[in-house]
Amino acid sequence: MNLPKHIGIIMDGNGRWAIKRGLKRSEGHKKGGKTLEKIALHAKNLGIKYLSVYAFSTDNFKRSEEEVNYLMDLLIYYFNNKLEKVCKDNIKVVFSGRRNNLRKDVIEAMDNIILRTQNNTDCVLNICLNYGGEEEIVDASIKLAHDLNQGLIKKEDITRESFYKYLYQDLPPLDLLIRTGKEKRLSNFMLYQMYYAEIYFSNLYFPDFKEKDLDKAILFYQKKDRRFGSVKTD
Ligand code: FPP
Repeated sequence: MNLPKHIGIIMDGNGRWAIKRGLKRSEGHKKGGKTLEKIALHAKNLGIKYLSVYAFSTDNFKRSEEEVNYLMDLLIYYFNNKLEKVCKDNIKVVFSGRRNNLRKDVIEAMDNIILRTQNNTDCVLNICLNYGGEEEIVDASIKLAHDLNQGLIKKEDITRESFYKYLYQDLPPLDLLIRTGKEKRLSNFMLYQMYYAEIYFSNLYFPDFKEKDLDKAILFYQKKDRRFGSVKTD
């Protein structure tokens, strides 16, 4: 019944989850990775077609070198070691974000998982890595200006819908955005795609977010009357 087609998750609170337990922040990211595995599988089993997750923002490079390196190593571990499982689960992995200043071994692991899952059809897992929503709109505009200058498209071809083709991934707009970790902000996540998203804030730190919490967020979405700016007539 009225399932969101595309869900986005800002997986916040890994660090605080760890600190609260007297652990290093890295332990929170590790537990967050395990949580994501369960949530992605659950979303797929529910019939969600697109899941976008915020793994690393362009601003996250401001963190300590130790934390950035830990996160990159963790991502490589996931991309390399969870490969067989993601393939078996028929989930296609794609990425959004700038590749240029990522470590070479991270790019290799990304390319590996893209290639190995490219024919999977049940669900698309879009991992936002070195990602910023403003940056995405700027990068899309540069590509669009190029196509316009080269005569590949005409000015009349530029519409709200056609602009999606210039984003990092051509995915449907976000129906439901979930943010864990108590904060109520958008943090530069999928700004173009969330133009009409319902927003669900959870007070749980991401490592504590369970399958039943995803169910709750979907139920919240299903209760919404989505009019897309029109007026209900019945
Ligand atoms: C935000 O919590 C979380 C991140 C910056 C990293 C998210 C990464 C994962 C869940 C690891 C696994 C990811 C994949 C794609 C396999 P925070 O560190 O900002 O927490 P805080 O606000 O409590 O400090």
